[in-house]
Amino acid sequence: MTKPEKHIFICGSFRASGEPQGVCAKKNSISFVQYMQEELADRGMDSVLVSMTGCLNVCDRGPAMVIYPDGIWYGGFESEEDLDTIMDALEENSIAEQFVIN
Ligand code: FES
Repeated sequence: MTKPEKHIFICGSFRASGEPQGVCAKKNSISFVQYMQEELADRGMDSVLVSMTGCLNVCDRGPAMVIYPDGIWYGGFESEEDLDTIMDALEENSIAEQFVIN
């Protein structure tokens, strides 16, 4: 595997105790990881990797993700259509302003 140009971390609400109990997992963030992986592959965006991560400590804005190396934080996405908007922005090197966590 080559090193990805961008790496998306989606909160899976995992805590040090192990179980996903937080806001993001309750709002389907775990299924969003698979959707993004499949959609990025369909778009041929092979240089973008998606991983699940533990709580990002912005639970009140969840579900949440962070994109590196850009340092963009997104939250409040609730559907595959919202994720499409985020991936459209990624593809265009722009920002999906409506989901930005400042
Ligand atoms: S549970 Fe997702 S940011 Fe805390």
